Amino acid sequence: MAAWASEIEDGLFSRRLLGEPVLIYRLGDGELVACEDRCPHRFAPLSMGHKTETGVECGYHGLHFNSRGQCDANPAGNGYIPPGAKVHVYPLVERHRIFWIWMGEPALADDSLIPDLSLVPPAGAGLQNLGNYLHVKGNCLLEIDNLMDLSHVNFLHVGSLGNETMRSAEVQVSEEDGKIRADLWMPGTTGGFGAMTGEPCDQWINIVWMAPTSMILEFGAVPPGVERVQDPHGFAFHIFTPETDGTTHYFFGSSGTFDESEEWKVKMIGDAQRRVFKEEDNPMIEAVEERMGGADFWSLKPAILPNDRAAIMVRRRLQKMCREEARQDAEETA
Ligand code: FES
Ligand SMILES: [Fe+2]
Repeated sequence: MAAWASEIEDGLFSRRLLGEPVLIYRLGDGELVACEDRCPHRFAPLSMGHKTETGVECGYHGLHFNSRGQCDANPAGNGYIPPGAKVHVYPLVERHRIFWIWMGEPALADDSLIPDLSLVPPAGAGLQNLGNYLHVKGNCLLEIDNLMDLSHVNFLHVGSLGNETMRSAEVQVSEEDGKIRADLWMPGTTGGFGAMTGEPCDQWINIVWMAPTSMILEFGAVPPGVERVQDPHGFAFHIFTPETDGTTHYFFGSSGTFDESEEWKVKMIGDAQRRVFKEEDNPMIEAVEERMGGADFWSLKPAILPNDRAAIMVRRRLQKMCREEARQDAEETA
């Protein structure tokens, strides 16, 4: 994920992704462009330049780059354009109100691999809690560890989302269609969040991971013994993209749409997410990053608990995907 579609307004949008500075903009005809945000002349950020009818003009000495990244005008001197004056262009797709970028070999871009986030409500369907963003000073995998082991809710989030009665919950881990899920079922406990906070209830929080870094959280609570039904408003989205090895873009929001009279509810959900992630998860993740000091996770020989199963399955899956990708790259260049 490069950005929420709502983040890209009329101008030039810049964000570092996977260590690379990326410029995203939309031309007047609606064409979406993602390219390297570094001019090949004196390496100025193109995002400090100006959008034109057909591309972007560098703000330093005026070279112009079209939507294919090719320099096609030099307004200075005799207008000489050096061969090879171009910026890399990345395939970009808008789906589920999200911009998905492919930063590998452009020919290998495959939009069938975009995770299924069709639970994201469509635009204009009422009030929604979407488009949230948090910058995290921690490796992306630490965020995945955090969400794949939701037992942390009953420790790190005691008083905001969880409580002691929920601690003995057992995690069920399963895998289907390449998605890995961890279900936390907490019968006979005290409601930790939502409408049943403080009430006796049976409650659940489940997490579903989709490669490589998108997750959907399902939550809900019912009076004890009542049949469990997943409320369509009870899904939250958590999507992570590495900014660098040690920093992450965290995109989040939730499903469900609300009418005008429920504005307070939308605000309450959004505020609760923002506050909990920012004040409870984030300080812990950033502290973990600092303590790990950039070392490889496995080299630190982590103690493994039963609740870690899903997080470890995801880490292994990602390692396997990386190995396969490296092998493909090696075959291509051989
Ligand atoms: S740095 Fe872009 S034109 Fe000189
Ligand atoms: Fe958390």
